[in-house]
Amino acid sequence: MKPAPNALVIRPCFEQDLQQVQLIYAHHVMTGTGSFETEPPDLEEMARRWGDVVTKGWPYLVASPARDLTRVLGFAYAAQFRMRPAYAKTFEDSVYVAPTALQQGVGKMLLAHLLQTLREDGVREVIGVIGDSGNAGSVALHKSLGFKTVGVMTNVGFKFDRWLDVMIMQRSLRAEK
Ligand SMILES: CC(C)(COP(=O)(O)OP(=O)(O)OC[C@H]1O[C@@H](n2cnc3c(N)ncnc32)[C@H](O)[C@@H]1OP(=O)(O)O)[C@@H](O)C(=O)NCCC(=O)NCCS
Repeated sequence: MKPAPNALVIRPCFEQDLQQVQLIYAHHVMTGTGSFETEPPDLEEMARRWGDVVTKGWPYLVASPARDLTRVLGFAYAAQFRMRPAYAKTFEDSVYVAPTALQQGVGKMLLAHLLQTLREDGVREVIGVIGDSGNAGSVALHKSLGFKTVGVMTNVGFKFDRWLDVMIMQRSLRAEK
């Protein structure tokens, strides 16, 4: 059953959250195809990546239960899609939810907040780069927030002894109705 919306708080990710963020990401690197990394980055590397995002003023969010704001159930961040200046208003999202909190609305709440923050920051287009076109959770999450599939790159990844597609999904923030 999905938790009541007020049971979750979406807030900025602080340095002290990164240990839990690292564990969540490591789980997905080791067990899934949503990330094309094969070795989980350690805490130091996760802190470096988090620092890169937040020092640029880009959003890095975590979801916590309202009753315990020190717990991290999932995280989401956005970074400029590519660093060439003409891409300045196009961002790529990333969302990861703890294995114990999947399919309870955490990912959707994180991504919805991320999109709202990006909209307020003047971002125009958001790209979801979905590792593995069979990644039902990620495809469903993006679809549920209005992303459309704009392309599939076939057999561009190799992990767990199989070739993987990458699905590109896009959501415009420009024409909000
Ligand atoms: C993708 C991911 C973040 C989704 O998070 P989540 O908290 O489980 O998703 P939610 O419960 O918020 O569900 C959002 C929507 O997707 C659907 N959904 C979620 N997981 C699903 C699954 N495995 N199969 C089918 N639909 C699924 C939900 O039914 C919901 O749809 P609705 O709004 O129409 O009811 C999570 O599965 C995850 O961490 N996956 C591994 C990492 C990954 O691939 N991240 C994406 C990298 S960009």
